[in-house]
Amino acid sequence: MDAQLARIHDAAPAVENFGQALVAGLGKTPKQISAKYFYDAAGSQLFDQICELPEYYQTRTETALLNRHAGEIAALMGPHAEIVEFGAGSLRKVRILLEAAKPRTYLPLDISGDYLRHVVRDLAVDYPTLQVAPVVADFTLPLDIPGDARRAGFFPGSTIGNFRPDAATALLRRMRGTLNGGGLLVGVDLVKDPARLHAAYNDAAGITARFNRNILLRANRELGADFDADAFIHYAPYNVQMQRIEMYLVSLKRQIVTLCGAQFEFAQGEPLYTEDSHKYTIESFREMAARAGFTPRAVWMDEERLFSIHWLESR
Ligand code: TRP
Repeated sequence: MDAQLARIHDAAPAVENFGQALVAGLGKTPKQISAKYFYDAAGSQLFDQICELPEYYQTRTETALLNRHAGEIAALMGPHAEIVEFGAGSLRKVRILLEAAKPRTYLPLDISGDYLRHVVRDLAVDYPTLQVAPVVADFTLPLDIPGDARRAGFFPGSTIGNFRPDAATALLRRMRGTLNGGGLLVGVDLVKDPARLHAAYNDAAGITARFNRNILLRANRELGADFDADAFIHYAPYNVQMQRIEMYLVSLKRQIVTLCGAQFEFAQGEPLYTEDSHKYTIESFREMAARAGFTPRAVWMDEERLFSIHWLESR
């Protein structure tokens, strides 16, 4: 197990600095911070709780689809595949592919190094013959994954929706460049009844609110910032026109926050924009994938048409 840990490839210098990003984002109008900074160890754990919420249908639906179509997916990935997962998180979903496709190698990429180390340990115990090569990396930055094996990409969780369509297209194109001619399996949340979407990001137990607010607590912990986190509320409306959930933290009072030697004033009611979660139709997503240079092939979805999984070929 220690050998496993020693082999973790840490691309940390490529992980942009949280402090710099926050200072830059607080200087913008509206104030904003990239959602990737949600995922410190505490944030990753809160996110795992979100995935189990009754209102958050996405994880459950995607997992059921993976189970139902695992044989077909494994056939598309081919024997002895090299699977690379972008934003691997808890490593739960990939286990379905590991069982079905029996890949030779698995490269989980995640921005949360501590969390990745922790979850990889359990995976290595459960799959002793699998070569696991974890990479601590920010997959939104240029990636150079050593090796020229044809890869099967895995990008579940509708993380693609957390990028603006232009950035999402560019990201898909860049991912395509890392696959050496292989395909990409990507999970995409679908447009639907706004009330259903709203509920998924405004759960009754308040876990999503805690997750959103954790980014302020993280700044206080790591950067010595002095956000009054209790004075910020989670606000996550669905913008029907833009077909996206927009997530904010709204300061209920005027406050001045000091971090990294700089000061930022929040007016009463002023938002900090923390995330978008874009929703697609099957067609709009396939069009975007094609613009990124992929050939969209198979697509699977549940009977209620809540969620979709796409297999995109890169040549
Ligand atoms: N990819 C997930 C989504 O857009 C991420 C997510 C779910 C999320 N719930 C969240 C991100 C709450 C921030 C806050 O559905």
